[in-house]
Amino acid sequence: MKNKIPVAVLGATGAVGQRFIQLLENHPWFDVIAVTGSARTEGQKYGEVCRWLLPTDIPKSIFQLKVTPSFPESIQTPLVFSALPSEKAKIIEPLFAKAGAAVCTNAGAFRQDPHTPILLPEVNPEHTALIPAQRAKQGWDGFIVTNPNCTSTGMTIALKALKNSFGLRRVFATSMQAISGAGYPGVPSLDILGNVIPYIPGEEEKASWEPRKMLGIINDGKLELAEIGFSFHANRVPVVDGHTVVLTVELADPPGDIGLAARTLSEYQAPEISRQLPSTPQPVIRLRSEANRPQPRLDITEGMTTVVGRVRADDLFDLRMVVVSHNTIRGAAGGSIYNAELLVKQGFI
Ligand SMILES: NC(=O)c1ccc[n+]([C@@H]2O[C@H](COP(=O)([O-])OP(=O)(O)OC[C@H]3O[C@@H](n4cnc5c(N)ncnc54)[C@H](OP(=O)(O)O)[C@@H]3O)[C@@H](O)[C@H]2O)c1
Repeated sequence: MKNKIPVAVLGATGAVGQRFIQLLENHPWFDVIAVTGSARTEGQKYGEVCRWLLPTDIPKSIFQLKVTPSFPESIQTPLVFSALPSEKAKIIEPLFAKAGAAVCTNAGAFRQDPHTPILLPEVNPEHTALIPAQRAKQGWDGFIVTNPNCTSTGMTIALKALKNSFGLRRVFATSMQAISGAGYPGVPSLDILGNVIPYIPGEEEKASWEPRKMLGIINDGKLELAEIGFSFHANRVPVVDGHTVVLTVELADPPGDIGLAARTLSEYQAPEISRQLPSTPQPVIRLRSEANRPQPRLDITEGMTTVVGRVRADDLFDLRMVVVSHNTIRGAAGGSIYNAELLVKQGFI
């Protein structure tokens, strides 16, 4: 791309906002020119007010940027990445879409909207066909595209591979979610160290519903949810980054040989349009054959790649497996950037 597309990051000082800044540092298509924050950081230098948590340094060009309020009047970029808390996103993101921007968001505020895609380029790039109806309904020049909740992400990618080959009936799953999934400062250390918290507000509902939307089909301009039964348990565990989900899956047409299911997962390819983008994971799914993998500490180095292991037959349903996915990279900022790349390729940006 000759001229990079100028972009803004809303909520740039938080756990996900920082990942955007890190991942966009040398992006071949996008150039960060504006960062926003709350009243806590507004008007101050990003590098001085951001509680930077990542092992790489804050990029020099961003360190000096002034944190601005999230008003479209002062930020006129064609593309906006949002890492706002959901309740703020609900008010702020439509203002940007109305002003003509493409908003790629991590927040959950619009995931339930029937005209707003929850997008994973490896899974459902065709769901961007909902965008024209969203624009027409809202009277916006711009639009909003969301990525899924960080727990739904890796699990849906693995389920898509199985669905394509064997169909899906029911899924019983349990998550062990990292602390960084709660943002910064997140869960108090005295609550989480040496402990497991068997409740994350709203998470079980999201993880049971979002995969059905992403695995659904568009029929006559309307999105039909996939008919898959879900039972989900969400837990917070003392892991810094990387969500683990263990799944037991009932398939519609199970293979006689579990090795075939494992090969289907490891050979899964994203739809053609999503294969050669700057953030395309290579491979989409890494299959670990060791008995004790995947593990978040060892496998989050894969970044955008979803890591699957322990694929084995199940006596109650058909198959069991373990999925690990980096929650602030594949499940948040990296996912939004990949979505924006797809939208550029499809001509929406
Ligand atoms: N963490 C994850 O793994 C993850 C994964 C997927 C999706 N998400 C979603 O991504 C979003 C961000 O999550 P997070 O974990 O990064 O949260 P976080 O660490 O709490 O960060 C929140 C960010 O929003 C900013 N903010 C708050 N109120 C604002 C306002 N009125 N105007 C502008 N900025 C405002 C904060 O700015 P100040 O620092 O200036 O206060 C901060 O930059 C949430 O919707 C979350 O549900 C998170």
